[in-house]
Amino acid sequence: MKKMLSLLLALVCLCLPLMAAAEEPITIDNIRSLVVGVDDPVEVKPGLTRPIINFDNAATTPALRPVVDEVNAKLLTYGSIGRGFSAKSNISTEIYEKTRDKVLHFTGASPDKYTVFYVNNTTDGLNKLASALITSKEDTVLCTRMEHHANDLSWRERCNVIYAEIARDGRIDYDEIEKKLKENKVKLVAVTAASNVTGYVTDVHRVAKLAHRYGAQIVVDGAQIVAHRAFSMKGATPEEDIDFFVFSAHKMYSPFGGGAVVGLTEELDKHMPAFYGGGMIKIVADNWVTWASAPKLYEAGSPNYPGVVGLGKAIEILEQVGFDAISAHEQALIRRLMDGLKKMDNIVIYGDSENISDRVGVVTFNFNDANSLLVAQRIANQGGATRRGAFCAHPYVWRLMNIPDDQLEWYVECTDGKTPGMIRVSFGIYNTEAEVDEFLGMVAEAVRSVRAKEDWDDLYEDFSESY
Ligand code: ALA
Repeated sequence: MKKMLSLLLALVCLCLPLMAAAEEPITIDNIRSLVVGVDDPVEVKPGLTRPIINFDNAATTPALRPVVDEVNAKLLTYGSIGRGFSAKSNISTEIYEKTRDKVLHFTGASPDKYTVFYVNNTTDGLNKLASALITSKEDTVLCTRMEHHANDLSWRERCNVIYAEIARDGRIDYDEIEKKLKENKVKLVAVTAASNVTGYVTDVHRVAKLAHRYGAQIVVDGAQIVAHRAFSMKGATPEEDIDFFVFSAHKMYSPFGGGAVVGLTEELDKHMPAFYGGGMIKIVADNWVTWASAPKLYEAGSPNYPGVVGLGKAIEILEQVGFDAISAHEQALIRRLMDGLKKMDNIVIYGDSENISDRVGVVTFNFNDANSLLVAQRIANQGGATRRGAFCAHPYVWRLMNIPDDQLEWYVECTDGKTPGMIRVSFGIYNTEAEVDEFLGMVAEAVRSVRAKEDWDDLYEDFSESY
C-alpha cells in the first residue's frame, strides 16, 4: 500500500509540470513557439539554408500549431455538413454552426441583428456581397482611393463607383467622404479598416456615422485588421454601427482557407448573391425555386469545414493573446524598423513615419537610387521575406509614389523589372526586434549590392512579375 502511494505521488509529481505546460496561457511572449515552421531552415539560395525572417504577413500568415491540431482533431469526426444522416455529420454540423457564434462574439455583433456567412476569403466575400447588394447598374458606391482591388473592382464592375481622394499624408480624408456623400445619392460606402499598403487604420465608425447620415450603408473590408486590432460592429451610438464586415482566416494564422461576412440579417434576407447551387434552397421545381434565408442563401456548395474549424480556433487564440498586447508589440516593431531605415541613404518611407499610432504593422519603402525589385530579391536571397509591387491596391500606390495616370499605360507591357513598386514589410504577432535588426542588415547589404550592380544579369533572369 505504502509502495503504491509513493508510486502515485511520483506519478503526480512527474505529470504536474506537464499539466502546467499544457495549461500555460498563450501570450504575445510565447506565441512564437506555436508558429509552424517559423524556425525551420529553408534553402533560400544555393548554398544558403536558414530560417526565413517572414515579414510578409499581410499577404498570408503562417499556421499556429493549435489551429493545425484542432483541425486534425476535428477531422476524426468529419462528416458532411448539414446534408448527412450520421453521428459524424451531426457533430461536424454542430461545430460548423457554433463557430458562427464565435465570429459574432469576435466582431462584437449581436445575433439579434447580424448573420454570419462563411466565404473562401475577403475577395470572395466582397464579391458575394456586391452581387447581392447591388441591384442596378445605376447604384452608386463610394469607395476610397486607399482600397484593395477586392473592395474596388467588385463594385466598379457592377455599378457606378465614385471615389473619395486620400489626404496628402496617405490617410483617409473624412471631409472628402462627407463631401462625396453630400453631392451624390450613395447607396453604399465601401472602405477598408486598415490599409495593406501603409497600415493606416480607418475610423470606420466615423465613416459609418457619415454614411448613415446621408442614407447609405457601410461595407468594411476587414482583411488587414482582424489579426492586428480589436474590431467591433458596434459603435458608440447606433448610427456608428457597421452594416457589413468581411475578413479572411488565412491572414489570422489559419491556413485552411475560409473567412466570413458579418452582415445585417434584414438586408441579407432581402437580397441574394449571384452564386448558385445546392444548400441555398428550400425546394427546386421544374420551373421555380424557393430560396433559403441567410446564412444558407449565401453558402451554396459543400462548406469548407477545415477552414471554419481553423477560423474558430484562430479567433480563440487571438482573443487569448489580446489585441492590446498585439498592438503594443507591433508598434515597437514598426518604430524600430522605421528608425533603422531612416538612417539609410536615399530611403523613402511611405506614409507618416512620426505618428504611427494609427498604423498596423505595415511599413512600405523604396530607395531613390536602387530598383525595388532587385532590392527585394537581394533581401530574399539572404533569407528575408517581403512583398514587392503595388499590393493589389494600384491606385493608392501610384498616388503615394506620385505616378500620374497618363504614365501608367507605358508600364502595362513592361516586364523587365522596371514596373514601379514598393517594398513592403508586414509584421505578424510572432516577429521579434532581433529579426528587425537582422533584417535591417539584409536591407543595407541588398542596397549596397544593387548599387554596385553585382550579379545584375543573374538577377534580371530571375524576374517574375510582382503585383
Ligand atoms: N492583399 C494581400 C496583400 O496585401 C494579398 O498582400
